[in-house]
Amino acid sequence: MNDTAIEQLLQQHFSIDALQQAPAPLQQALRMLGGWLAAGRDTPYPHTPYAELIPQLSSIAPPAHGMAVTDFLQELDATVLANTAQLNHPRYIGHMTQALPWVSVLAEAFTAALNQNQVKIETAYVSTLIEKQILGWLHRQVYQHDDAVYTQAMAATSGALGNVVNGGTMGNLTALAVALEHHLPGTRKRGLFATMQESGYSGLAVIGSARSHYSAKKALATLGLGENALHLVPVDRDNRIDITALETTIAGLKARNIKVVAMIGIAGTTETGAIDPLAAMAAIAARENIWFHVDAAWGGALLIAEQFRPLYDGIALADSVVIDGHKLLWVPMAQSMVLFKDSASLNLLKHNANYILRDNSGDLGQTSLEGSRRFDTLKLWATFKVLGVSGYTTLLQQAATLSRQLQDLLAWQQDFELLTRSDTFILTYRYVPAHLRQRMAALLESGQIEAATALNQQLNTLTAKLQNRQKAEGHSFVSRTVLESTPYPGPTNVLRVVMSNVQTRPQHLQAILDEQRAIGQALVAELGL
Ligand SMILES: Cc1ncc(COP(=O)(O)O)c(C=O)c1O
Repeated sequence: MNDTAIEQLLQQHFSIDALQQAPAPLQQALRMLGGWLAAGRDTPYPHTPYAELIPQLSSIAPPAHGMAVTDFLQELDATVLANTAQLNHPRYIGHMTQALPWVSVLAEAFTAALNQNQVKIETAYVSTLIEKQILGWLHRQVYQHDDAVYTQAMAATSGALGNVVNGGTMGNLTALAVALEHHLPGTRKRGLFATMQESGYSGLAVIGSARSHYSAKKALATLGLGENALHLVPVDRDNRIDITALETTIAGLKARNIKVVAMIGIAGTTETGAIDPLAAMAAIAARENIWFHVDAAWGGALLIAEQFRPLYDGIALADSVVIDGHKLLWVPMAQSMVLFKDSASLNLLKHNANYILRDNSGDLGQTSLEGSRRFDTLKLWATFKVLGVSGYTTLLQQAATLSRQLQDLLAWQQDFELLTRSDTFILTYRYVPAHLRQRMAALLESGQIEAATALNQQLNTLTAKLQNRQKAEGHSFVSRTVLESTPYPGPTNVLRVVMSNVQTRPQHLQAILDEQRAIGQALVAELGL
């Protein structure tokens, strides 16, 4: 490499002067982003079959030489933007990702430009304080301690009320790591094998409902308890943990000398949005000396709006709570928080290193499982500043209204059946034409369970094919899952929709149902149902 080569690279790709003098790439990028955020495309799901895309992205070596940025942007447009699921499209209602306020996207660009590393104050000066402030705001929504607690926490030079993490999965892992160290002190240092031998227990368990997010299993595998340590308790018809079954599970584990390290309440569940009976679970956890963790990755943000608070009765009794910003706080991936009722809990994860993280330094990296971390609270801070609590409340109310509108629409259609509704904007339903619905009702009434199970399986095939075809046609997108807690025998495939896309209006919902009806009718004929 000669001096000219490095000078050229610096001038072209590091010097901001060049960009200011010739802002074409910036303008081009902004146009592309603007087009994207405006949801201008006709269809939300990419048209090019996935298999056809593979050859386009199969070169096995990186380019030997660079290209002009403007050419790259064109390639980005043609290859990436054209083939990306448009999650903010009004007819994309299948997952927890949705339209974003553009300021959150702008803030994301600043996060990249500033490139702070939250691990230590030396690389995260004011951003450490912003992170602590965001944690304080969310903690206050959940736990509602006296204001003095928060004033003190914000002013303190060390300690935090929780961790900012890269997603709910990391949040659940962090909470369970703390719970384990709480119940088996010394595990971090000496390992699970040693502490278990001394403990006298014959095993360890974590309890959650059958609707638990699969990240709980990942956490237990990572912590060395093993996935099988997760004991899943059946849910009731509303997809909430069955308290009687929970008590039976605890009694059974106690009888086998298995220590229940943690109990996970979900608020709300990934598949159906249900909120577990948190107050009842908290009382059981306190009685049994079990760490009570609430996975509110999806639903926790609703605590911002006063009208939703009653749904979360008991959450303030949780030892730890996870909330995802990139779900119902409308910020880009990834941004989550794990909060602890007692700020001392995080000391159980505390570590030091000589070159950073010196004792009581106030470095946020002292109590996080992750190392280098982005300044991911900037987008949440920006969105809170720009929307305010009132703006967030309006967004959440809109999601509630849209959920009601879809429920009403479904109630009017003879050939759709609502399977679950929830307070957190997730609904499940399926397409069942009247003659099949009547056939099912007759079979159940006459106790012909085997025939009803067989019919339910046929309906499962119908639902799966319908969702696949709808996705392939690309005009709209809903997801699908399997529930066992329905009035029907055997597992039941359901279409799943998440009503947090604030671009979606009733006419979009009607268009989605019309499309599903057309596909469903064709499939009923094809399958000879
Ligand atoms: C209830 C619940 N917990 C945890 C997670 C995992 O969150 P993430 O995907 O942000 O890691 C999800 C994701 O959908 C979820 O719905």
